[in-house]
Amino acid sequence: MSGVFVVFEGIDGVGKSTVCRSVADVLRARGIDVTVTAEPTHEGIGAFIRSGGAGPVSQRTEALLFVADRNDHTERIVREVGSGRVVLCDRYFASTVAYQSAKLDGDATDTDWLIEINSDFVRRPDATILLDMDPRDSLGRVGSRGEEVSKFENLGFLEQVRDNFLRLAERFGFHVIDASRGREDVLRDVMAVIEGLV
Ligand code: TYD
Repeated sequence: MSGVFVVFEGIDGVGKSTVCRSVADVLRARGIDVTVTAEPTHEGIGAFIRSGGAGPVSQRTEALLFVADRNDHTERIVREVGSGRVVLCDRYFASTVAYQSAKLDGDATDTDWLIEINSDFVRRPDATILLDMDPRDSLGRVGSRGEEVSKFENLGFLEQVRDNFLRLAERFGFHVIDASRGREDVLRDVMAVIEGLV
């Protein structure tokens, strides 16, 4: 039996990882084998990106690093899906397109090029769920987690990233879910998408 590959996307603080964990709990309670994973990954190139080891690089270089991480990650995802598991992935190629094409320090990378460099290295997800929220609200959540706000987490930048995600959702047929509501409502809508696949 072939498994299912579901991706969760959205700006920082929309609750992707919480939703991923909740979906995994629901599916596991039904006896379904689930893998929860995320990008940037925590090993190899992903760990390198997270450590900031590359220093102050351009958005194009950063995009290539995210895609390199994705290439190795995709090989693992394909193996897991092939063995019949449901793979829930927190961020995938749309994050590179949405974030690296937003203007950070005046530097914006071309959307078509970003889609192109991903095209050889991604497996098409069975569904991509975009958790959508106004960054004014999601930034409050990031701050309340007591985390340091990263360079990606300022309001004007995240407004661009959100717009980019919404454009990609239209172009690639993502499921857009209003993540500003309570946890139960969001989970119910997410499960409605996933029920059709498992
Ligand atoms: P994030 O999902 O916030 O990781 P964690 O919650 O484990 O810290 O990802 C870290 C940041 O990386 C986030 O602000 C978005 C950014 N990012 C990109 O800019 N491009 C990408 O391709 C990916 C996967 C992430």
